[in-house]
Amino acid sequence: MFILGIETSCDDTCAAVLKDSQILSNVISSQIDLHKAWGGVVPDIAKRAHQERINPVIETALKRAKLTIKDIDLIAVTKGPGLAIALGVGVKAAVSLAVKYHKKIVAVNHIEGHLMANFLTNSQGKPLRPFVFPSLTLTVSGGHTKIVLIKKIGDYEVIGETLDDAAGEALDKSAKLLGLGYPGGPVIERLSLKGDSTFLKLPTPIADKKILDYSFSGLKTAFYYQIKDWPKVKINKHLADLAASFQSAVFATLIRKFSLAVEKYHPACLMLSGGVAANLTLRTKMRHLAKTYKLPLYLPFKKELNTDNAAMIALAGFYQAKRGDYANPNILDIDSRAEL
Ligand code: KG4
Ligand code: ZN
Repeated sequence: MFILGIETSCDDTCAAVLKDSQILSNVISSQIDLHKAWGGVVPDIAKRAHQERINPVIETALKRAKLTIKDIDLIAVTKGPGLAIALGVGVKAAVSLAVKYHKKIVAVNHIEGHLMANFLTNSQGKPLRPFVFPSLTLTVSGGHTKIVLIKKIGDYEVIGETLDDAAGEALDKSAKLLGLGYPGGPVIERLSLKGDSTFLKLPTPIADKKILDYSFSGLKTAFYYQIKDWPKVKINKHLADLAASFQSAVFATLIRKFSLAVEKYHPACLMLSGGVAANLTLRTKMRHLAKTYKLPLYLPFKKELNTDNAAMIALAGFYQAKRGDYANPNILDIDSRAEL
């Protein structure tokens, strides 16, 4: 089956073509340069950029896959969660193609897309290891932080999630506080490599071992209060130490709760996904954890599959269609607060 995936939930305009689970093309038009100056995503700017880019991005994805829209069997589009006016652009484009070319269409949950990033394959069928269930997945981005038990594809149980900020959002906000620009995660990662992660003492959010949920807003506030009276020169002198301390506190929290979840749920394998999963330090920590519990660990096989992309949406759509869960293009609408 040939699937066209479309994703516009935040600041990346994305289209991808899959043959079942295999990626034939994966086009991502990032808007970071447009939002950078504002220190975060500006909804109106995102909407306009998506509108300008969506058709060329879809055309490029089809061209790189050496297909035309006529060859496509299924259109999969992100319905939410995400930025409402951004989601609307992708949904409108998907619906108009579905209606014009009489294609089947599915409306995909963005977080399910992130879960599916580990199930994508390349032309050699990689990853080569078979998937085993249940899988315990830590999915961490700018919009969500969840521990999800995947019993099988399509059957998910959220066993822990953030009660306030997402981990990526916390990294972005701490970077903003340090004057480092947007998105903060990659800058914090780069700086952390040169810093002392024990420089600042930060609290351990939700220490209770019975609770598998996360909280990052207290960590962010504690960070703010520790440095708020510092002169700029002092902050700049210790930039790498501050970045390393904050990143380390966020990752220690992610790993601690995830370990508790592994002990409670006895999964057959572990997975990591979402934008923050691009971070090499977090990936290394997850590898250690997997080794400790002697479990296979899956990570998206390409860096660009961690952050927002349409290949993961197309794959979620492929499985959704197998379950017969199609949308009616005449009434398909966004759901900006969709739950997994
Ligand atoms: O999955 P994603 O592209 O979009 C959402 O669904 O939110 O994730 C974006 C988030 C941002 O918070 C960004 O700072 C973070 O992922 N991120 C990273 C890295 N690359 C992106 N965080 C830490 N290290 C990275 N290398
Ligand atoms: Zn995302």
